[in-house]
Amino acid sequence: MSLPKAELHLHIEGTLEPELAFELAARNGVTLPYADTDALRAAYRFEDLQSFLNLYYELMAVLRTEQDFADLAHAYLARAAAQGVRHAEIFFDPQAHTARGVGLGTVVGGLWRALERSRAEHGVSTRLIMCFLRDESAESAMATLRAAEPYLDRITGVGLDSAEVGHPPAKFREVFDAAAALGLRRVAHAGEEGPPAYITEALDVLGVERVDHGLRCTEDPDLVARLVRERVPLTLCPLSNVRLRTVDTLAAHPLPAMLDAGLMCTLNSDDPAYFGGYAGDTFDAVRRTLGLGDERLRELARNSFLASFLEDDEELRARYLAEVESYEFR
Ligand code: ADE
Ligand code: ZN
Repeated sequence: MSLPKAELHLHIEGTLEPELAFELAARNGVTLPYADTDALRAAYRFEDLQSFLNLYYELMAVLRTEQDFADLAHAYLARAAAQGVRHAEIFFDPQAHTARGVGLGTVVGGLWRALERSRAEHGVSTRLIMCFLRDESAESAMATLRAAEPYLDRITGVGLDSAEVGHPPAKFREVFDAAAALGLRRVAHAGEEGPPAYITEALDVLGVERVDHGLRCTEDPDLVARLVRERVPLTLCPLSNVRLRTVDTLAAHPLPAMLDAGLMCTLNSDDPAYFGGYAGDTFDAVRRTLGLGDERLRELARNSFLASFLEDDEELRARYLAEVESYEFR
């Protein structure tokens, strides 16, 4: 669907399509333990978040040079633009690369090469959000933040991702405080597989402005009431939830009930190469399967721009919002 929209929950490493993975593997002399793209796609059957993360981190072995990161981001932005994405706030996982000997400068430099041309080339404005891996230590996260200081002119905010259960937000209190002191915006994954209490902790301890996923808030009516009252944006990813089995089927996804409850939901693709669809595909799927009407879809698109970190360019946000309001559904 070409409804204008912002993508607020998108891991750039999760846009690595099998074809590009094999191309980069050949370019870098990396051998993948899959015969071909079909064999790799056949491995995309996940039991839970961890089983996905294992493959997600394994395939990152092909990303080695600035050009690799530029090619990855360029391919994503072209696809996103074709599906109505006008603005993308893109996550990346520096520790997954520095741990393999790929420097932060290589990662940021490569991504930036694609991002700085994106508005002219694809009509997509962008921001970068650096995520800490919550299954690594708080010290490692702090070292990553310090290492990122030379690149902060290109980084808008910090996030928190990877294996959630057993790694509550409070573990990262100091690093999020330090990020705030540097003027960085804050988001965190919470309530994807972890309990509703992690959502509360992300808000109260980490000071996040948006909650990534936040799906399990539905188990706590007081938390839902708070999220509604404070208009906390939730970056939902329904296709991801189905593939990682946090919901049984797309038809059983609580998105319609969450909208009815007054939650500020946005629709996102998380790791589209792995979960079967980019932003427009996600809008199409919820329209078809959950029966959301045009005005609900418009609300989701409007929310995406309202929840975006465009405070430094309100004129652009207003232009995007006007496009949402005048969009004609077919
Ligand atoms: N990293 C990439 N995708 C993720 C997800 N859905 N949850 C947590 N960490 C991730
Ligand atoms: Zn995610």
